[in-house]
Amino acid sequence: MGYIGKRSAQPIILGALKRLEYRGYDSCGFAVLSNGKIEVFKERGSIDELEKALSGVNVGGTVGVGHTRWATHGEPSRRNAHPHTDCKGDIAVVHNGIIENFQHLRETLAAEGHVFRSDTDTEVVAHLVERYYNGNLEEAVRRALHEVKGSYALAILHKADEKIVAARSRSPLVLGVGDSEFFVASDVPALLEHTNRVVHLEDGDLVIITREGFRIENGGNVVPRKMETVLWSIEDAERGGYEHFMLKEIHETPRVIENTLATHLRDGVLGGVDLDLDVPQSSEILMVACGTSFHAALVGKYVIEELASVPVRVELASEFNYATTPLSRETLVVGITQSGETADTLSALKRAKAAGCATLAITNVLGSSVTRLADRIIYTRAGPEICVAATKTFTAQLITLYLLALHFSSIELAERQKMLKELRRLPTAVQRVLDAEDEIKEVSGRITSYENVFFIGRGISFPVALEGALKLKEISYIHAEGYAAGELKHGPFALLTEETPVVAVVAPDRTYDIMLNNIKEVKARKPPVIAVADEHDEEIEKYVDFVIRTSHVEPIFSAITNSVALQLLAYYAAKERGCEIDKPRNLAKSVTVE
Ligand code: AGP
Repeated sequence: MGYIGKRSAQPIILGALKRLEYRGYDSCGFAVLSNGKIEVFKERGSIDELEKALSGVNVGGTVGVGHTRWATHGEPSRRNAHPHTDCKGDIAVVHNGIIENFQHLRETLAAEGHVFRSDTDTEVVAHLVERYYNGNLEEAVRRALHEVKGSYALAILHKADEKIVAARSRSPLVLGVGDSEFFVASDVPALLEHTNRVVHLEDGDLVIITREGFRIENGGNVVPRKMETVLWSIEDAERGGYEHFMLKEIHETPRVIENTLATHLRDGVLGGVDLDLDVPQSSEILMVACGTSFHAALVGKYVIEELASVPVRVELASEFNYATTPLSRETLVVGITQSGETADTLSALKRAKAAGCATLAITNVLGSSVTRLADRIIYTRAGPEICVAATKTFTAQLITLYLLALHFSSIELAERQKMLKELRRLPTAVQRVLDAEDEIKEVSGRITSYENVFFIGRGISFPVALEGALKLKEISYIHAEGYAAGELKHGPFALLTEETPVVAVVAPDRTYDIMLNNIKEVKARKPPVIAVADEHDEEIEKYVDFVIRTSHVEPIFSAITNSVALQLLAYYAAKERGCEIDKPRNLAKSVTVE
């Protein structure tokens, strides 16, 4: 968030940051230009705590920038909170996004004598601007950004200039236009209290904002951008115009995949994947998790066994804690938990540690309890998830597990490169699934009036079916069961009637023919059958009543595209049934009791 105008910047910035609290954060801070000096205040924790620390003092100044941080590089702490400054404290930077080449930049700048005071990727920007500053802030920012790879929404101050320079690349940034005052923020709700006239900045835009006006450049040329009037309420704006956080979060999936890949893929690293992990000497991997994370683990088992030929056992954390199964010290135990706070998963990792096993956690929340427990951590980069139902974080877990499988794998270079290329194509493939959401919405109408739905799949599509069923039941309250397609005839067939729709997840892999047989067996019992299938599958229509088409990807990655389609199916079914969606009854986002 940034402000420049005639009013005092501090209360405007803090008020705006409060409007962005729904995004989740663990620390916050602001900087103002006051009497020719940059004054920085920051705190771990909430904006209320920051205000308490200020004990009613307004530091003055009518230009400033502020930030709420959700930690991605470096633990949540005061020193890692933004704004970050250069060596002399003349420049203040706030940033959303990930500077992918920060390690290299940091080493170079440190060798030139720059002293770093945080663990963040952001701080390199302050030092780069310092390196190039020669009396002209925008020129220094231009040159600095030339060296930066990654995603960013940046707002930058210099003590000698009554201006804000902001820039955008693959992270949202919006300019708010008031009367002789201007705002810049990551999201519209931050501005709405002051103005509804906004300019959505585009990738590559650099904007120089003074009290007199603003100038937007892209690639060195001044560019015109349309001013829009926002008609949303603040509540609508928090959800980015989407009716629910769940839908917003599903739509964030392509960006989440990009961010997770950007964090863990590196040029020049053996095999491209940089997880800073030893390839296990262990003869076995054991994964422990709950709910959606458990389903991610089941997909992970399939992928790791396929690509790395290491046997993987998956256990529900809540069961594992009371099991008597012997644990070998040779086992690598992987805990998967988006929140990092699930009590059962934490206990399972403790049990594994006590048995002398090496432990690894995959989590989305930096500084969460699991990060203090496991020997090694891999972060998914999904950003905060507000809806209780896990969607984008599930996809980020899957991406991480594909990377883990590649990291452990010794497949040939050409095959590995093909897989990495496919992974990089996934954001586009998922976007195409999202673009077809109207068709999924229509198909969802075929299940909303029923009380029981089966989801079936084989191989990698079996856990996808389990997850599809979980998603549907938790938000639409339709009873749904996920089943291995071959298992239906061992009992559940007794329940199949015209009143029991079956959703079949069909991947074009070695299970395809047998899956068609299973669908035929189901059809003979008269239930309506919906298939989720590859867009190039020409056979499937002959076997089922409705088809949800998903973008063609290598079959091993179909778990991603098909899961996103099933998330949308659940969402639209729940919406049609008038359910609450973001906060389903009886459920909590973090389950901190066993
Ligand atoms: C799924 O939509 C739920 N939110 C739930 O099953 C969740 O995955 C489970 O409680 C585990 O949470 P975690 O990933 O934070 O450990």
